[in-house]
Amino acid sequence: MIKGFVFDLDGVLTDTAEYHYLAWQELGEKIGISFDREFNEQLKGISRMDSLERILAYGHKSNLYSEEKKMILADEKNEDYKKLITQITPADLLPGITELLMDLKKAEIKLALASASKNGPVILERLGIADVFDAVIDPATLMHGKPDPEIFIKGAEQLGLRPEECVGVEDAEAGIEAINAAGMFSVGVGNEQSMKAADLFVAATTDLKLSTILAAAQSQQKERKF
Ligand code: BG6
Ligand code: MG
Repeated sequence: MIKGFVFDLDGVLTDTAEYHYLAWQELGEKIGISFDREFNEQLKGISRMDSLERILAYGHKSNLYSEEKKMILADEKNEDYKKLITQITPADLLPGITELLMDLKKAEIKLALASASKNGPVILERLGIADVFDAVIDPATLMHGKPDPEIFIKGAEQLGLRPEECVGVEDAEAGIEAINAAGMFSVGVGNEQSMKAADLFVAATTDLKLSTILAAAQSQQKERKF
């Protein structure tokens, strides 16, 4: 029986995945590394510093910067990103998310946020959904980022549930891997190629219907019993 949902934030509840992309591109321009959306898929779900490392490796510039300078570059990206997210309002919830959250509340299903973003709590406030969540995992407390399952396991734990009683929702390949490794039913939204390991794939957030997700999760649980 599903009793909890553990959500990713960027690219699932709101389109901040696009803002991360824009801010990294701006930094890329400053340091002479350009990359496209296909490469950007690899950055989704990954922490700020790990994203920077991947970008530097992609541009063959990993050895050009000291750890201190890398911190400065990551801060610069975050300052640009923070400017972009000041514009966020409740109207920026992706289509279908308000309905999904309302249906979850009606069904008395508990909600946790499992975002790698340190900006997560501010974004939840701006979207007007901070009080909808029963738990918000602080990424600063984690030993390992996604694709490690730690953040999703903590999400279930903080809801007082077992992972098998939860559904995880993601738009990142690393995130789906983390949900699957946690032993939760995984729902992937967005890029079909990146979501190929998801238990259930939907192309758009408007297709995130509670009844469809619960039916798919329950039929998988039945299969596992045999
Ligand atoms: C994840 C995003 O949710 O948060 C990544 O998918 C991002 O792209 C990561 O790098 C960390 O975010 P922040 O806001 O702490 O830099
Ligand atoms: Mg995401």
